[in-house]
Amino acid sequence: MSKVIRFFRFLHDFKKGSSFPRVANYEITSRCNLSCEHCYCKKNPGAQDHLSDEQWSEVFTEHKARGVTFSFLTGGEPTLRMPVIEAADHIFNGLAIASNGVIKVPEQIRRRLFISLDGPPEVHNRIRGKDVFDTVMNNIAGDRRVIVSPTLSTTNYEHIDELIRITRESGVEGISFSLYTSHVRTDDPLLLKGEKLEWVIEKLLDGWKKNRKLFFMTPYIINLLRNKPHKNECFFRGSNFISFDARMQEKKPCVLGAGVNCATCGCIVPMISYALKKMNLRSWFMLNRMFPTRYFKA
Ligand SMILES: C[S@@+](CC[C@H](N)C(=O)[O-])C[C@H]1O[C@@H](n2cnc3c(N)ncnc32)[C@H](O)[C@@H]1O
Ligand code: SF4
Ligand code: SF4
Repeated sequence: MSKVIRFFRFLHDFKKGSSFPRVANYEITSRCNLSCEHCYCKKNPGAQDHLSDEQWSEVFTEHKARGVTFSFLTGGEPTLRMPVIEAADHIFNGLAIASNGVIKVPEQIRRRLFISLDGPPEVHNRIRGKDVFDTVMNNIAGDRRVIVSPTLSTTNYEHIDELIRITRESGVEGISFSLYTSHVRTDDPLLLKGEKLEWVIEKLLDGWKKNRKLFFMTPYIINLLRNKPHKNECFFRGSNFISFDARMQEKKPCVLGAGVNCATCGCIVPMISYALKKMNLRSWFMLNRMFPTRYFKA
């Protein structure tokens, strides 16, 4: 299908709405094989598997029948539930997986993979745990399904250039940055703000200029990080999106969970959605590169 037809179909579907959301996020497990410095999952105790593989399959089948056309699998660490990933791969038309990359997603799962990478070896390992960097790099080398997804905080923001270089040298498809989002209202030592935030925005704009094919962000999206206007009309809070935790309880206001401070939101997904809603064409074409037709099933 031509890019133009896909664009208008997308806009039509997006505005039409439906009785059940079209995009769903599933935390298929609250367990994880890492314990990262910045992770919002630490705010959701009780890490275990609440649903069996079969129950997840039933949920996916029912939700697809009710209108879900695109789903995100996350956690916890979703690769700890590989049979659930395989079931989702069979059921959903559109699917993407967010993972820490410690366990490789089998090649036959032809879907977009967002793999967390938070810095060069010593920084990534400090945030995510000893020796994790080498494991992840071995698992993603040359894998074009992969978009590297750093989360920038005060711990790692100075390593943007190295992250871009590592991404280019690894042979994956590209990189897309998010910013740490806070659950507190007062001073959060990990939160990027003021001069540091401004420095990050300029660095990302420069990175985009020099690495356009590698970047899964646009200048429009990068500039949203300054005032975060997407917080006021967030896609995650709209009727087209729904998020479930590992117990299959609806998660509000979004995947980041109760108590999140939207004024600090640096999540790439609502920023992309905001850019599309504002008809930023460059962001649409970027989305088309992020989710090309080869990652959808009929
Ligand atoms: C919760 S993890 C789940 C998937 C997988 N375990 C991983 O690490 O990629 C999904 C993404 O959320 C990011 N993340 C965790 N806590 C965050 C926070 N407070 N603000 C922004 N992003 C966060 C992680 O760095 C990761 O890239
Ligand atoms: S690997 Fe993912 S889910 Fe696990 S602690 Fe790190 S950010 Fe959180
Ligand atoms: S924190 Fe969640 S609900 Fe709030 S603006 Fe960000 S994505 Fe939307």
